[in-house]
Amino acid sequence: MTETTDAAPPRRDRLHGRRRGHKLRAAQQRLLDEALPQLKLSMDELAAKGPAGIFPKPPRAVWLEIGFGGGEHLAAQAANNPDIGLIGCEVFENGIVQMLGHVTRDSSTNIRVATEDARRVLDILPPASLDRVFILFPDPWRKTRHHKRRLVQAETLDRLAELMADGAELRLATDHVDYLRWMLARATDHPAFEWLARGPADWRERPEDWPQTRYEAKAIAQGRRPAFLRLKRRPRI
Ligand SMILES: C[S@@+](CC[C@H](N)C(=O)[O-])C[C@H]1O[C@@H](n2cnc3c(N)ncnc32)[C@H](O)[C@@H]1O
Repeated sequence: MTETTDAAPPRRDRLHGRRRGHKLRAAQQRLLDEALPQLKLSMDELAAKGPAGIFPKPPRAVWLEIGFGGGEHLAAQAANNPDIGLIGCEVFENGIVQMLGHVTRDSSTNIRVATEDARRVLDILPPASLDRVFILFPDPWRKTRHHKRRLVQAETLDRLAELMADGAELRLATDHVDYLRWMLARATDHPAFEWLARGPADWRERPEDWPQTRYEAKAIAQGRRPAFLRLKRRPRI
């Protein structure tokens, strides 16, 4: 039997939460059945064509969003940057359906979507192939015994350092104070990344070219203050 990248997912600890929430309404199910196949990215296709080859038009650069949730940010970045190719990763079906709603309304053609654990995408992408990476409001996994499930880990940053081009930007956000400390400790310790903040406004205020996500809106409505981190991939020597 030929082993393909799609057929043989590596066995790993689960990082993400649930894949399904409330039952989809008929219109949502239709969107999933009809619109998702146009955008869905298989690991075989990614391995065969490479990230720049999976878009209808060759993009100027490729950006990756991990855990896009309802896809507001992914869709807005795609609409605002038509010359960029965006790869979005999300496992939660109800979020994927919401994203499809945004993308269909905007008629964007520069988005491809992986509906599996983002680590599979990270395994397949070639070195220095990404110009921007977003991990916005990742699940904080509050209990200490669950901290190993946090997406932002030294291991993830090591892999992103390989995949990001020199000068590429990593954007992280959280509304969870402990996860913010955790992220900052790991990112500022990492030799490949430089935190771009020069003062408090640089991480307390969301930059203009950074559309709001649903989790950010929810955090603010509940009285929490989010943090927005921008890190640069240092040039390789
Ligand atoms: C707290 S939500 C935030 C969603 C969105 N970024 C926002 O700000 O509104 C985190 C999302 O990451 C997704 N996620 C977590 N781990 C993932 C993984 N390993 N691969 C793909 N998606 C993942 C979850 O399914 C969830 O929808």
